[in-house]
Order: sequence, then structure tokens, then C-alpha cells
Amino acid sequence: MARRITIFDTTLRDGEQSPGASLTPPQKLEIARQLARLGVDVLEAGFPISSPGDAEAVHTIAKTIKGPVIAALARALKPDIDVAAKALAPAKERRIHIFLATSPIHRKFKLRKAMEEIQRLAVSAVKYARRFTDNIEFSPEDASRTEPEFLYRVLEAVIDAGATTVNIPDTVGYAVPEVYGPLIRGIANNVSNIDKAIISCHCQNDLGLATANSLAGIANGAGQVECTINGIGERAGNASLEEIVMALALRPDVYNASTGIRTKEIYKASRMVSTLTGMLVQPNKAIVGENAFRHESGIHQDGILKHRQTYEIMSAESIGLNDAQTLVLGKHSGRHAFRQRLQALGYELGDAQLQHAFARFKDLADKKKEVFDEDLAAIVEEEQGEARETYKLVYVHTSAGSGTVPTATIKLEKDGKLIQDAACGDGPVDACYKTINRMVGLHPELLDYALRAVTKGQDALGEVAVRLRHKGGEVSARGTSTDIVEASAKAYVSAINKIEQTRTAGGKRRR
Ligand code: KIV
Repeated sequence: MARRITIFDTTLRDGEQSPGASLTPPQKLEIARQLARLGVDVLEAGFPISSPGDAEAVHTIAKTIKGPVIAALARALKPDIDVAAKALAPAKERRIHIFLATSPIHRKFKLRKAMEEIQRLAVSAVKYARRFTDNIEFSPEDASRTEPEFLYRVLEAVIDAGATTVNIPDTVGYAVPEVYGPLIRGIANNVSNIDKAIISCHCQNDLGLATANSLAGIANGAGQVECTINGIGERAGNASLEEIVMALALRPDVYNASTGIRTKEIYKASRMVSTLTGMLVQPNKAIVGENAFRHESGIHQDGILKHRQTYEIMSAESIGLNDAQTLVLGKHSGRHAFRQRLQALGYELGDAQLQHAFARFKDLADKKKEVFDEDLAAIVEEEQGEARETYKLVYVHTSAGSGTVPTATIKLEKDGKLIQDAACGDGPVDACYKTINRMVGLHPELLDYALRAVTKGQDALGEVAVRLRHKGGEVSARGTSTDIVEASAKAYVSAINKIEQTRTAGGKRRR
């Protein structure tokens, strides 16, 4: 009988700690809905003490999302635990996740505390959190660089205090499978009361080994794995949910372990997280990258045509990706068909949003011969983003070419009022960005600019992703259009709106 592994998704907490990936509370709720459809067991919704916006998002998710246990992160401090407990209060099933570093380097330089003091603080935090729920997870931060004997002692003490899950973070991604697997095995063999708790893996990807380490943890006795959609997370990211789930699904001969994930929801989740965080998925990313199911070599194509399994270990359908990009709607399609197709893609829009999205779809269908699912996803996700915008792009006109000075004229709407300005730049996109900066009175630094076609063909939608830095914080955003200058302006305005949101929410403290 296969062991059932608990999937603990931390896209909305560790994932959101990716530089530039901040999400608004409504965007977090949208992703949480998709994570519930995906079938994650535990959904870590945020770190409520970090900002009022994060506390609000956790509270809304706890109130709205049915199915997964909702978790929130807290340091081993009473105020953190109080705020987490309050945010989680409406959840049917809730978990408080407490962390405190245990490694020598963190003890000496960060916490300036001795072993005994760390153990005492961990125990008292777990005991305090038990007042609010009996589902408590404890993470000894930087566990993989902690002395094993001390780690065993702390784990034993927090389990005695009431922790029901003990998570073993490889916080800095330093572990390798040959070390991380035995670390988990050592805990299973040396912590006397380990039968009262589940061992969990949490692996960062600094050496590109997060998935491999997590699988080694599972093979050595871990019953829970922490992961994120697309592997997003602090620095080089976290273990990728889709990679772990598909490895377990495809290799029962090695792991004899199963999950409750509905794999056909993976692609939708990946696409949604990428769009709402503004973080593009690299084309060769395992499972969800654009090239993951494409075959270029003649020998491979021949093999695929003769028998798919010659060069494919899983089907695109198994992760919810249509084999061929399906033409779903055209310019004669009606509102009803449009709504039905969106529902099939996992999007729920209110009447006003649907009306607006439908108008955009008609507009696009006039410009493009074929409208694909990816086009629809781009329209809807932009629509959802726009509902919370401070600035709306109304009009963009540029003139550029050899021998002319690139100039942009931009019209924005703010609080129902139209504002307009024009400026020159090094090219049409630069001219747009200079104009917008002047109009909104902000001068962020453009860190990244990437352009790609959403679908195939000369009339494809262009998608621009930008990453901006403003006063030490970073934001990412995207924009789509058949006109790449307009897509560039949309992405920039959307990023400006995110900066505005962080300004009004009073900023966010990182873990
Ligand atoms: O990387 C880490 O140590 C963490 C813990 C809070 C689980 O994110």
C-alpha cells in the first residue's frame, strides 16, 4: 500500500518571498482557489505579522477556501502567534507554523542565543500556540546546518510541547541528497517521540537540488513535503510542487508514495502563478515549461509518431495541457460560449468583469484569426489585475523609426479623471516609460524587461514582463497585446499599480 504524502503548498508565503513577486490580497485569493482545486493538503497562506496586507489575505483565504488546512507562519514570539491565530480564526482547519533558527551560525550571529535558550523559546512558543489550535508545525530554521544531536533534542522537546509536524528546512539550499536523506532518517531513528509527529521536508534550490533533496527526504521517512508552484521562492526558489508530484506519480517503483493532487490542474496553476506574480517560467522548466512536451529532433519526432512513449514519460494531458493548442473561440462566438470556456479554464468572473473581458475578447478576435486558451487566460488575468488599479492605460501612441526622435503620447485614467502627457526616449518603449514616470511622479529602476509571444503565428499576442525596483522594494508585472509597445506600456502601468499598492499597505516585512 502506497504511503500518502501530505502536500504543503507555500507558494503564497515562501513563493511570494521571491524578489519582485508580491501579490495583492485578491490575487492571493485567486491563487488559493486554484490550489484548492489542485488538491493541496495544506495551504500556507502567508506570514501575517509581516504586513497588514498579508494578514488580510490570510484572513480572507481562511474565511473563503474550503478543503485544505490553512496555515500561517509565525516567529517563536507571542505577538506573531497572536496575529497568525487571529488571521486564521475563520478557517475550518488551521495550522500555526512556528520557526526559530537552530544552527550555530544563526545562534551566534543572528540570534545571539545559546542552545538552551533556543530550546526554551521553541517549547514555550509551541505551548502558547496550542491555545489556538492543536495543529502546530515547528521548523528549526537552517536545520540542515544544525548539529544533529541538538536538532534531535529540540525536536523531541517541541513534540512533547505539542508540535504535530516537525519540518526540516534546508534554508540555504546547502544540502545534497546523500546528506539530506540520511538527516531525515537520523531524525526518524533518534527522536524518541517521533511517532507523535510527521516529519516534513522544506528544501531551497540554491544548488538546483530542491526537488532531489525533497525526494530523498520522502524516501527516508518524511510524510510531508513543502513546495511551490513553478518552484518560486526566496533566492533560487523552493522545491517545485509539479516536479515532486509527477516524480511520485511516475515512480511508484522507487517511492511507493502517492499524493492527493489532481495533476490535470497543474498547468492552470502554473500559468496563473506566473501571470499574477509576473515571473516567467523558463522554457525548459521540467513539467510546465513551454518546451517540456515539444520535440524538435527528427529522430525524436519519428519515434513520437510511431509510439509516444519512445520519447515521452508523461503526457501533456496528464498536467492539463492540451496536446495541440486548441482553437476555442472566434469572432462570431457569443458570451455564453465565452463564459463556459473560461469556467473550463478555471476562471470565475463576476458579471461586470465578464462583460469587460468579453469586450476585450471581441476586440482581440477582430485582430487575430485564432483565439487560443492562452490568449483567454492572458485577457482574464489582466482583467482581474485591472479591477484594483490606481492607474488605467487608456491610450498609447508612439512614433519611432530611423531618422525620427522616438516619442510617446500616453493617456491614463486615475480616479475617473483622464491625464495625458508626451515625452521622448531612446526608443518607443523607453519613451513610454519616461512619459508614464512623469505622469505618476515615480522614477523606479527597470531591472528586467522580457518579451515573448503567448501563442504562435504573426498575429500572436505579445506578452511583456517587467521587474522594477522602487525604494528598495521590487515588483514584477505583465501586459499583453497584439501590439508590443502597448503590451510594454500595460506591463509598466501594472507594475506602477503594484508599487502604489505597497505604498498604501505600508510595505511588507520579509521573513
Ligand atoms: O527556508 C526556511 O527555513 C523557511 C522556514 C520558515 C520553513 O522558509
